Amino acid sequence: MESMEELIRLAMEAMKRAYTPYSGFKVGAALMTEDGKVYQGCNIENAAYTPTNCAERTAFFKAVSEGERKFSAICIVGGMNGVLSSYTAPCGVCRQVMREFCDPETFRVILAIDENHWREYRLKELLPMGFGPENLRESETERTP
Ligand code: THU
Repeated sequence: MESMEELIRLAMEAMKRAYTPYSGFKVGAALMTEDGKVYQGCNIENAAYTPTNCAERTAFFKAVSEGERKFSAICIVGGMNGVLSSYTAPCGVCRQVMREFCDPETFRVILAIDENHWREYRLKELLPMGFGPENLRESETERTP
């Protein structure tokens, strides 16, 4: 289990690898699995714009592609040209990706500016009444008229 300080440091380190020739807005994420392993991610932009991948999804897709399915927390940092001056919240698409793999009641989303300034949320606060894997289970669809 990493300390909060260490998780924030790993997100800041990941941010340095952001590829942002178009927006200049750099984001870093550090995603922690239930057994304490950390996957880092940065945003990766594209000349065609829409293929851009957010830092959070980079971290999730790296982890899931390595066989991870259980996560406890993600730390996110971001700022224009990599200058951390305010909290960067995850976009709606990334919240939905979190919803796919994480328990909204327990998954922690930590937004940080530096090792001493951070805020913690549960996924359910950031994505209330989300649509998730349970909605597509047979028992659920049976109830649908
Ligand atoms: N971005 C992220 O990586 N994560 C977020 O939560 C918000 C937005 C990136 C996408 C794009 O490269 C840049 O920030 C500006 O939108």
